[in-house]
Amino acid sequence: MNKELVIVIDFGGQYNQLVARRVRECNVYCEIYSYKTDLDKIRAMNPRGIILTGGPNSCYEENAATCPPELFSLGIPVLGLCYGAQLMSLVLGGEVRRAALKEYGKTEVHVDNTTPLFAGVTADTVCWMSHNDYIARMAPGFRVIAATANCPVAAAECPEQKLYAIQFHPEVLHTVEGSKILYNFVRGICGCCGDWSMDSFVEESIKAIRNKVGGGRVLLALSGGVDSSVAAGLLSRAIGRQLTCVFVDHGLLRKNEGDEVEAIFGEKGQFDLRFVRINAQERYYDRLAGVTEPEEKRKIIGEEFIRVFEDEARKIGAVDFLAQGTIYPDVVESGLGGESAVIKSHHNVGGLPDYVNFREIIEPLRNLFKDEVRKVGLELGIPESLVLRQPFPGPGLGVRIVGEVTAEKVKIVQEADAIYREEIAQAGLDREINQYFAALTNMRSVGVMGDERTYDYAIALRAVKTVDFMTAEAADIPFAVLQKIMSRIINEVKGVNRVFYDLTSKPPGTIEFE
Ligand code: XMP
Repeated sequence: MNKELVIVIDFGGQYNQLVARRVRECNVYCEIYSYKTDLDKIRAMNPRGIILTGGPNSCYEENAATCPPELFSLGIPVLGLCYGAQLMSLVLGGEVRRAALKEYGKTEVHVDNTTPLFAGVTADTVCWMSHNDYIARMAPGFRVIAATANCPVAAAECPEQKLYAIQFHPEVLHTVEGSKILYNFVRGICGCCGDWSMDSFVEESIKAIRNKVGGGRVLLALSGGVDSSVAAGLLSRAIGRQLTCVFVDHGLLRKNEGDEVEAIFGEKGQFDLRFVRINAQERYYDRLAGVTEPEEKRKIIGEEFIRVFEDEARKIGAVDFLAQGTIYPDVVESGLGGESAVIKSHHNVGGLPDYVNFREIIEPLRNLFKDEVRKVGLELGIPESLVLRQPFPGPGLGVRIVGEVTAEKVKIVQEADAIYREEIAQAGLDREINQYFAALTNMRSVGVMGDERTYDYAIALRAVKTVDFMTAEAADIPFAVLQKIMSRIINEVKGVNRVFYDLTSKPPGTIEFE
């Protein structure tokens, strides 16, 4: 695919993926590469622009991540962000020093909006700062185009060479007009016209898949999650029944989920493919009987998946390709920009290729961010309920049932969770809360129902607000909504007589219970 390309050079900043996502939001394709990437390789990629990210070090320290000065004389526009801005200044003859005052958080900044980088940006705006060092002296040829109370060079430019340095982070949402600044860079300064869109991605991928696969056979483990479902949809559109999807129902899915997956991808669904559903519930429950240790449960569920899939793959025989739903963050996180071969280390498919007779791996979503995968899914006509769904862990309800997993407990948590989801949707909160589910505690307690004593399980309701799922806060659900959910669960789900709401943030808690 011959697209306009902007590359992000990563210096270890925590927002590197965010920078690339923001660029793609400007409809410009963007990839992330390590700062160690060879200059010749960068030149050969023929990027329209280069963005240097932030990083944890000080650029003047010995052994700090750096870049060759020639990077700035390729004739390609370069935008340095935070560490990248300081490095650009240092490498080109300026000076960077430790600041007397560390700037952190939302900061008022005054920008010169007559420059192309800040065109259309309010002169006094708010940016997100996070730095210990500052540009004490600009490199020759640069001039200041933004400043804050404590940072004399909040941004600088050398328009003759199309070099731009910004001390703050335009990629972070707290920088109120950050998206506009990045748009100005990629669409204005780099001159990109914006040829990256999901509908063209679908068309081009279908062609590329057909070319690669030819008349070959492809096998995909379909979990019903977003990534593998979108991969299935895309492959199906490209090669139809040359694709076999194996869907393992491990009995740890949410209520009706197995049937929903089958309705979409099964023989009566809208996609042309071979669909094999394996109902392995009993097999899983047998393996999990008596097991209470969380890591052991996870291990068993992962291993059992491989066994089940292996049995099925043996029946299917040799295939040409094994497809995987690897997405771009998986690629970046396991070794930046395709420098190493990546096989998604998802618990479910880790190690899988050893067990299946195939020639090559095919990863049609390898270059996409999650939000792009979702757009492709919608483009392919996969229902919103699946494409926009919240994360669901590979080990499923196995990690939402504290202690031993049994068929009875699965049923309880499925029913409670279904009520919870229904009521959250009813209250119009489903888009606001990033992840929510019911879990079954291993606790039984005494209650009274009618005139009868009960001794039943307690359900815990979890609901979190989060951006990256690395940190999270408990969501502030109105008490009346919680009360209604509690009352329905206790009345409708046999075996439950108590409902808790989990207030714990992450850290110290995790989102899942195990
Ligand atoms: P924790 O519990 O670690 O979860 O705070 C963070 C996010 O990851 C999801 N999660 C998983 N996803 N396989 C997955 O694909 C897993 O084994 C797994 N465990 C946790 C969890 O739902 C949350 O969104």
